[in-house]
Amino acid sequence: MSQRILVVDDDPEALQLIGLIMRRHGFEPILVQSGAEAFQFLAHNIPDLILLDVMMPGMDGNEVCQRIRSDSRTAHVPVVMLTARSGTANQVEGLLAGADDYLVKPASSNELITSVQTALARAAEPREQKTARVISILGVRGGVGATTLAVNLAAALAGQMQTVLIDFEASGSAAIHLGASPTRSLGDLAAYAADSLDRESIEAALTSYPNGLKLLASAKSTLDAQRASAILNHLRNACDVCLLDLGAGLSELALALAPRSHVLLLALDADRVTLTQAAQIIHESSEADSPWPELRLVRINRLGASDEAALSSIRSALGKDATVIGPASNAMYQSLESGQPLVISQPDHPVAAQIRALAASLMNPA
Ligand SMILES: Nc1ncnc2c1ncn2[C@@H]1O[C@H](COP(=O)(O)OP(=O)(O)OP(=O)(O)O)[C@@H](O)[C@H]1O
Ligand SMILES: [Mg+2]
Repeated sequence: MSQRILVVDDDPEALQLIGLIMRRHGFEPILVQSGAEAFQFLAHNIPDLILLDVMMPGMDGNEVCQRIRSDSRTAHVPVVMLTARSGTANQVEGLLAGADDYLVKPASSNELITSVQTALARAAEPREQKTARVISILGVRGGVGATTLAVNLAAALAGQMQTVLIDFEASGSAAIHLGASPTRSLGDLAAYAADSLDRESIEAALTSYPNGLKLLASAKSTLDAQRASAILNHLRNACDVCLLDLGAGLSELALALAPRSHVLLLALDADRVTLTQAAQIIHESSEADSPWPELRLVRINRLGASDEAALSSIRSALGKDATVIGPASNAMYQSLESGQPLVISQPDHPVAAQIRALAASLMNPA
C-alpha cells in the first residue's frame, strides 16, 4: 500500500503540482485547501506525512502544525512545512510549531521528495529505549510530607537526568507544589483501555517544567492497578528515573506498584501512631505475593522535634535506621506559596542539601 501524504495548500495550482510529484514517486496524495479541511480529514484518518503551506487564509500553517502536535492521535505524524516566505525567523517559527522540516517555495521536485523521504525514514526509526530506575514514595499515613519529598527529589534529579514524576494519589497535590495547573493528567488516560495505552498518548499527557522535570499530574479518582502498570511500563522506556507518589497507606495501587519499583521510600514520623502503622505496612509487605524492593525509611521532621529521640524510637519499633529530612517549616511554607520546590527556590537551605544527598544515594545503589 502506498504511503498517504496529506497536502494542505490554499493555492490550487501548487496543490495540483505537488499532488502530481507525489503520485509520480509512488505516494498517495490527499489534497486539501485549508486547515479546516485538513482537520476534517484528520478526524477520521492518520496520514503517513503532512505537507503544509504556511501562508493560508484562516488558520495558518504554524497554527495547524501546533494543533496536529497537541492531539495525541496525530502528534507523531511528520510535518514538512512549505512556504513562499524565506528567512530564519519564519523557519524558527515553523520548527517551534513542531515541523520536522521546512522548505521554501518554489521547491524543486527533488528537494520535495528528498525532504518527504527523509522525514518518513526518521519517523520509522525505532525510538530510543531506556530503562528507568523506579522510585516509589509512600506515606505511612496522610500529611507526613510524602508529596513534598517526592516533588523535591524529582526536581533535584531533573537537573541531571530525564525525570518523570507520576502523581498516583487521587486528587494529589504534586502539580500545586510545582506551581502550574496542568491541562493534561492521568485522568485523560483513564479513558483508554489498559492495552490500548501507547507511548504517544502517555507522553502527550505529561506536563513539562522549565528545569526539565516532567509530571504526570494526578487524576481526580484513583486509577486502577492495570492501567497504572501499563502507564509505568511505557514511561520506564522513555526516561532515566520515574518517581511515583503512591499517596498514603497500603492501597490496592500501592500494593500493585511497590513490587515494580527498585526502591520504596516509606515517609514517616516517629510518633506512636505512625510507627504502629509503619510496622503493619512492613509486615504486610513481607507477606505480599510479589517480592518488595529495598525499603528505606525517611523520617520527615516537620515539627522540629529531636532527631536523636525519633531515630531511636524508629530503630526500636521497626528494626531499621531512617534518613532524616527537615525541619524546614518556614521554608516549606514559602516554597509552597511560590509554587517552586525547596531544592529550586532555596537550593542553599540545609534541607535542600539533605534532599539532594538522598536523591544521589537513590540513584547509586550500594
Ligand atoms: N521537611 C519538612 N519540614 C517542615 N514541613 C514540611 C516538611 N515536609 C513537608 N512539610 C509540610 O507538611 C505538610 C504536608 O506535606 P505533604 O502534602 O507533602 O504531605 P503528604 O504526606 O503528601 O500528605 P497527603 O496525605 O496530603 O498527601 C505540608 O504543609 C508541607 O509543607
Ligand atoms: Mg501527598
